Amino acid sequence: MALSADTHTSRTTTKLERYNSYIRRVNNTKLLAASSKLLFRATLLIALLLVLFFTINYPPLPADSSQFHTTKNFLSSALYGSGSGSAWEKQIRHSATPRRPNGFSVLVTGAAGFVGTHCSLALKKRGDGVLGFDNFNAYYDPSLKRARQSLLSRHQILIVDADLNDTAMLQKLFDIVPFTHVLHLAAQAGVRYAMQNPQSYVASNIAGFVNLLEVAKALDPQPAIVWASSSSVYGLNTEVPFSEHHRTDRPASLYAATKKAGEAVAHTYNHIYGLSLTALRFFTVYGPWGRPDMAYFFFTKDIIQGKPINIYKTPDGQEVARDFTYIDDIVKGCLGALDTAEKSTGSGGKKRGPAQLRVYNLGNTSPVGVGRLLEILEGLLNVKAKKRVITMPANGDVPFTHANVTLANRDFGYKPATDLATGLRKFVKWYVGYYGVQARVKKETQAS
Ligand SMILES: NC(=O)c1ccc[n+]([C@@H]2O[C@H](COP(=O)([O-])OP(=O)(O)OC[C@H]3O[C@@H](n4cnc5c(N)ncnc54)[C@H](O)[C@@H]3O)[C@@H](O)[C@H]2O)c1
Repeated sequence: MALSADTHTSRTTTKLERYNSYIRRVNNTKLLAASSKLLFRATLLIALLLVLFFTINYPPLPADSSQFHTTKNFLSSALYGSGSGSAWEKQIRHSATPRRPNGFSVLVTGAAGFVGTHCSLALKKRGDGVLGFDNFNAYYDPSLKRARQSLLSRHQILIVDADLNDTAMLQKLFDIVPFTHVLHLAAQAGVRYAMQNPQSYVASNIAGFVNLLEVAKALDPQPAIVWASSSSVYGLNTEVPFSEHHRTDRPASLYAATKKAGEAVAHTYNHIYGLSLTALRFFTVYGPWGRPDMAYFFFTKDIIQGKPINIYKTPDGQEVARDFTYIDDIVKGCLGALDTAEKSTGSGGKKRGPAQLRVYNLGNTSPVGVGRLLEILEGLLNVKAKKRVITMPANGDVPFTHANVTLANRDFGYKPATDLATGLRKFVKWYVGYYGVQARVKKETQAS
């Protein structure tokens, strides 16, 4: 009996222990579930706070390279438009503030482009404030544009990633900085690409330019605007050297037609709204950080890679020639034009008096045949090119360009100083360094 009582007590104790252990397990599970929920909520909150922080504090600089960025930029306008005094605005002010007495504050459109990068650096170097503006489109390798952006960023120059057609963004930038000048270089460049993508020329060179002028005309004070036209406006003109008073009503490409349209548009905004406008007709610009779609650039690439090179001759057997102009000379011309640009005379969309309207050629004044260009490159690279002489297709290219720069020389002392051989040497040095082809060039040099 005693044994049976003991056994009963022991069974009860075991049951109790099992029950307690069960309760403990249930409690532990509940505790675990509760703390997991807490952890999840805390993580979510931190993530939200981080997103908010980065959204407010960082400018839109993604490495996106689509042709047009309007959707993203309208969005970014909305995002960055609020929060005055945000870190983004501070970066913009910092970039655009001049560091010399009476320095300019310049909005450089197309700053991630070839000419834009060089002009931005030169302006910054002499103490002007510069803010870049570029949509980083993929007309040519956007990584080259991003590399130029990094170069500018090392010199405290910020580029806002936006399209000329983004009105809200342009207005926002002018709200933040009362720019004294706009150096407008953003455009769809290239003559041949117009046959593939004509609308891109209309969107950037006409609609984009008009949009910029619409924003600028309404400002008080209005900035002075210097912008890039092109030697291509001379089109089928046969009088040489090309002078500003020659005919420009026979463009040979859509590119040329949009640049010529730009000159007409500039006339209108000057006439109605008092905007000070200077058009610069550049003649085949070349140099370090240049454009991969231009002959001197892809000839270099093709020579190094051993690919055949097409040299164009005109249908009547003449050699194609260009007034190749070194980038440093073009930069001097751009700065000279900015320095002599008078103030706009309108404000808030109303003209108060006549304003300056100018057009200048910026060239080298000594055309060189494409065959000679190739010869210089062969010498610099120490490689013989595989040439194919063919008749120039009807793709918008003109056979010959030659600048008369008397006007630019008279008004701001423009005097080109770099001959093609000297300029190409500097280009090739940059090219082999940038693309890391030094070893290969040297090897090929030894082999030949
Ligand atoms: N390089 C030359 O030989 C030459 C000759 C005559 C005229 N130009 C003119 O000079 C200017 C600069 O030429 P470049 O050789 O530096 O060309 P580029 O293509 O290197 O530079 C133009 C820049 O503008 C940007 N851009 C284009 N459309 C835009 C838009 N809608 N919104 C914002 N950014 C936009 C591009 O991303 C590019 O970075 C252009 O207007 C060009 O037409 C150049």
